[in-house]
Order: sequence, then structure tokens, then C-alpha cells
Amino acid sequence: MSRSVRLVPAVAALLALALTGTACDGGVRGTPGGSGVRDPYFPKAGNGGYDVGHYDLTLDYTPSTRRLTGTAVITARATQDLSAFDLDLAGLHVDSVTVEGKEARFNRAGQELTVRPHDDLSRGETFRTTVRYSGSPQTLTDPDGSKEGWLPTADGALGLGEPVGSMAWFPGNDHPSDKATYDITITVPEGLQAVSNGELADQSTKGGRATWHWHTAQPMASYLATVAVGHFDLTRSTGPHGLPILTAVDPTQAKASEKVLAQLPEIIRWEEINFGPYPFSSTGAIVDRPDDAGYALETQNRPVIPGTPDTGTLVHELAHQWYGDSVTPKSWQDMWLNEGFATYAEWLWREDHGGESVQQTFMDYYDGDDKAVWAYPPAKPSSAAHISDSPVYERGAMVLQKIRQKVGDDAFYDIIQGWAAAHRGGNVTTADFTAYVEKKAPHQDFTEIWKDWLYGDGKPAHP
Ligand code: TRP
Ligand code: ZN
Repeated sequence: MSRSVRLVPAVAALLALALTGTACDGGVRGTPGGSGVRDPYFPKAGNGGYDVGHYDLTLDYTPSTRRLTGTAVITARATQDLSAFDLDLAGLHVDSVTVEGKEARFNRAGQELTVRPHDDLSRGETFRTTVRYSGSPQTLTDPDGSKEGWLPTADGALGLGEPVGSMAWFPGNDHPSDKATYDITITVPEGLQAVSNGELADQSTKGGRATWHWHTAQPMASYLATVAVGHFDLTRSTGPHGLPILTAVDPTQAKASEKVLAQLPEIIRWEEINFGPYPFSSTGAIVDRPDDAGYALETQNRPVIPGTPDTGTLVHELAHQWYGDSVTPKSWQDMWLNEGFATYAEWLWREDHGGESVQQTFMDYYDGDDKAVWAYPPAKPSSAAHISDSPVYERGAMVLQKIRQKVGDDAFYDIIQGWAAAHRGGNVTTADFTAYVEKKAPHQDFTEIWKDWLYGDGKPAHP
């Protein structure tokens, strides 16, 4: 309940603008929550003043018209007294917004949907916002030129959200620092499949349309939410200790993908040995056609891979389930905590399966001709246009190899497993990681590694 005195909304809105969070007679006035969370690379991503607990998304999509209608019910907790708050939403038409069942005023400016609830919200209060929206979702272009958001495909569509694309298909707090559970229900023309994160809770058909309800019980960052609409062969199997596996494969990729997807249980088993218990209640993959997306993405439970995957890609995207999806960066600056680990997983898989050792791969990069890897330090990408470049991936993995060189194999595996366990389901920074390593190996000095390999410009003097 709001602690503010009751005023007609227009007056309340004016007052909220005029006052800046100061107390006045009759109670504390809320202030607007703010349009971002000060991410150094994506300043408008996410919003201030609240923390989402759950998204309940009910979507209806027709590929032939590209029309989406959606209802998002967002349960959140106010982290300050709020007169207004923002949601991120790119494109689409907002039909109505209610907060706690009451019609709310809203306006839009760029990706910010500003909601002004009828009553102020009090710090600590849990509140429900319902947004009804519709239209043709946009494909967004990232600073690095890659496409995300809503990608129409040959026979449907793909929703992909790294780093800021989920706002193209649902309103929310589109920043990795605010993880939440999800129910995603998608209705599509009968005969098509609609696949998403988590587990299939319900599936029904009525009047020529099929409804698929997916439940994600473990907290998920918005950039990891996905829907894949189209023709898919769905196959269920089980992995280690009965872990449910669900793969969704475009029929044109089915034959070629069969062998590599059969490796899923073995990859999960190997990753559990190296990284610790698999962090979610199911796993799998979504394989669409090669041209449907420009990259693979570690969407939670079920990575999206355009075209028949190779083993390395599968190892990489599944390693992200530990590093990225379960243990999630607090800001886009800390991307190397995702990509350095997932790249290291690929190197380690090769080492463990009769291929080149990780140390040799490390030396190949160190002595190699490709200067791109030294362009900037992993923990400080040069700009948003470069957050998925080689220093984040390969040099990030090299940081891990430097740690392994220093502490030896036993301590190294303790560190990477312990890191995943200690921060399971949470958010982390690079400083959390360096502190964790130092705590686990108190007699070692990591100063040079952090200074030269993690934060230092240019190629370190010694491998
Ligand atoms: N995370 C993906 C991977 O390595 C790659 C990727 C896709 C990406 N889109 C991105 C990385 C946007 C950074 C930003 O598997
Ligand atoms: Zn990756």
C-alpha cells in the first residue's frame, strides 16, 4: 500500500516531478525510478527503483502476418518509494497498462516505457504490472552490427536477447542484474511448434491454434529468454541423474544434427565433472536453420544454434549454463566472465579428448599473428561495439589459464567449481571473481595476472 496522501493522478504526477524524494507532511513521496541502471556499456538498459521477481508472458504470434499480441504480467518489488517507473520496450504498440489492477498512465520515449501508477508505490512493496501490447516486433541492430530482438525465420521466428533484445518482444527490466522466474505461453497456428526456456508445463490446441506453456523455475536474465516458433522435431531424452533433455530441431537440420546432439548427455556429464552440478532443471538445444541467426546463443536451458552444431559450439553454449546463465554478470563490462569461461571449456574439451592441450592453445594465441586478442583488456572492453571480440573470449580464457599455471590443476578445478557453486543463480563482478580466487589460494600472489592479463593494455610481456 502507498503511504502517500491521495491526490488526483495529474496533481500527483506534477508533485512527483516537482519533489525530489524528500519527505513532506503526510508521508514520503515517491520519485521516478529512473531509466537505466548505469551500465557502462548500455546506459539505458534496465531501470531503477524495482526488482522483478516473475514475468508471466502470454503471447500470440502468426508468422504469415508477423503480428504479435502480448500480455506481460510483471511481479516486482519496489526498492524505493516510487511515483513512476520505467520498463524497457522497443517498438510495438502499448494498448494498456495497469498496476495493482488499476489503470496506469504511461508514456513512451525511445526504449523507455514510463508507467505512472494510480497510487505511489512504497519501498519494499510487491506490485503487479500488466502491460497489454501488440504489433510487429522489431529486429534490433547492436552496436557491433549483429541482429537480435525478433528475427523472422523461414517458417516462424526467433526471439533472441543478448545484450538488449528481449525488449523487442516483451516489456521488462532488460538488464542482466535483475534475474527473475518466467512463465512464457505462446499461441501459434496449429501445426507449428513454439519452444522456449524451462520445461513444457502445458500444451493444448483449440480452434486451429496451438498453445505452448513453458515454465522457468530458476532465475533467468532477460537476455537469456527465448522463443522459437516454426516447424521443429521435438525429442526428449535424459542425461546424467535423470536430467530431462529436450531438443527442438528444424527438420532441414535433423539428419545432420543427430550425431552431435546424441553427445548432449556426455557433454553434460563431462561439464559436471569439471564445473560441478548442472544448475538448472532441464537442458537441451534449439537448432534452427543456418541463416535464421548470425550466432549461437546460450539461452537458458536450451541454447539456440543456427544450423547443425559442431561439438565445440555445443560445449561452449552448454558451459554458459554454469558461467553466464547461472552465474550472471552484474553488468555488460563483465562479459569475459561468460565468454572467457565458455571459451576455456572448448579448449578443455579438446585437451580431454585427445586434442591440443590448453597450454598449447594458450601459446598459439600468445605467439600467433592475430593482434586482435590484445586490442583491449578482457575486464575493460573498449566500447559496446566490441563486447564480443577476441579479448573477451580468447584473452578471457587466457586469464583462466594463467590462474591454472599458478595454482595447479587441483586448486584450479576447485576454483572454477567453487565459483559456480558460490554464486549459483546470482550476479557477479570481476572484482568478486578476483577476490574469490585470492580467497581460495591465499598463499599465491595474483597481482601480476590481474594487472597484466585482466586489466592491462596490450600484450603481456610473459606468457
Ligand atoms: N554469447 C554468444 C556466445 O558466445 C555470442 C553472442 C551473441 C554475443 N550475441 C551477443 C555476445 C551479443 C555479446 C553480445 O555464444
Ligand atoms: Zn559464448
